[in-house]
Amino acid sequence: MSKLTKTGVIGFPVDHSVSPTIHNYWIDEHKIKTKRYEKINVDPKLFKDEVLRLKESGILGLNITVPLKELAFSFAEERTEVVKRTGAVNTLTFKNGKVYGDNTDVVGFQRSLEQETVEKNIANQKCLVLGAGGAARAVVCALNNLKGEVYVCNRTFEKALKIQQDFGIKPEVIEQKNLVTVVGEMGFIVNTTSLGLANTENTMVDFSQVDPQAFVYDLIYSPKLTKFLSAAKERNLGYQNGIKMLIEQAAESFKIWHDILPKNSAELMNILEDL
Ligand code: ATR
Repeated sequence: MSKLTKTGVIGFPVDHSVSPTIHNYWIDEHKIKTKRYEKINVDPKLFKDEVLRLKESGILGLNITVPLKELAFSFAEERTEVVKRTGAVNTLTFKNGKVYGDNTDVVGFQRSLEQETVEKNIANQKCLVLGAGGAARAVVCALNNLKGEVYVCNRTFEKALKIQQDFGIKPEVIEQKNLVTVVGEMGFIVNTTSLGLANTENTMVDFSQVDPQAFVYDLIYSPKLTKFLSAAKERNLGYQNGIKMLIEQAAESFKIWHDILPKNSAELMNILEDL
C-alpha cells in the first residue's frame, strides 16, 4: 500500500461537491505529500461498512456532506465540544487507530464574516436564523459565540424548539406565522434552509418590513445570488452568500489533517465561480 495519505468527501449524492477543487488547490499550493482529495458516494444504508473500509485503506480524513452528518456523529469515537453542541460531524479524522469527529462549519461561518458585520449587526443585536437542521445548529452556535441574541424560525416548529432545548435557554423561537411582527427588529438574518437551491423561491421573510441597517446572509452559494439575496439587494441591504463559509470550513478541516491553515484568495474564489 502507498504510504501517501488520502482525504476526501463523502455524501449521497456527492457529485455536486466543489470541496475537491478547494482541497486540491491547497494541496498543490502547500505541496502536501498526499493523494488527491476525492469525492466518494456513500449510501447511508452502507455508511458503517464503507467508512470502515476507507479506514482500513489508510484514509487520513473525510468531510461529510448531506445526508450523512448525523451518521458521522454516531460513528465518531471522540467528539469535540462543538460537535456535542451541534449534534453533527462534518469532518472525520483517522489517527492513532481512533476516529475523531469535528464540526468545522461553526468556525467556518464565523471566519466568513467581516469584522464590521459582527460589530454592527451581530454582537448584542437580534439575529434571525431561518431553518432548524444541521446547518442551522452550526450557525446558532457561531452566533452565540459572537454574542448575538439568536431567534430561530423553522417551518416545523418542533425542530426549532428542540434546538432551544439542546442549547439551553437561548435561542428564542418564533412561529413562522409570527415572523412578520418581529422581523423588523433583526440586525442580522440568515437563511440555512434549502429554499433557494436551484433558484427556487424563499418567501419566509417580507423584506419590506426589514430594518434598512440589517445584514442578510444565505448559506447557499449556488446560485450565487438566490432570490432571497436578490430581495435583500433590491432593498439596498448588506448581504453575502455561502461561498466564504464553504471555503473557511474547508480550511479548518485542512488544518486538522495537514497542520496548515490555508488562506482564501481571489484566485480560489474565481476558480469556484467558474465551476
Ligand atoms: P442541513 O443539514 O443542510 O441543515 P437539514 O437538516 O435537512 O439540512 O435541514 C433542512 C432545513 O431546510 C430544515 O430547517 C427544513 O425545514 P423543516 O425542519 O420544516 O423540514 C428546511 N426546509 C427544507 N425545505 C423547506 C421548505 N420547502 N419550506 C420551508 N423550509 C424548508
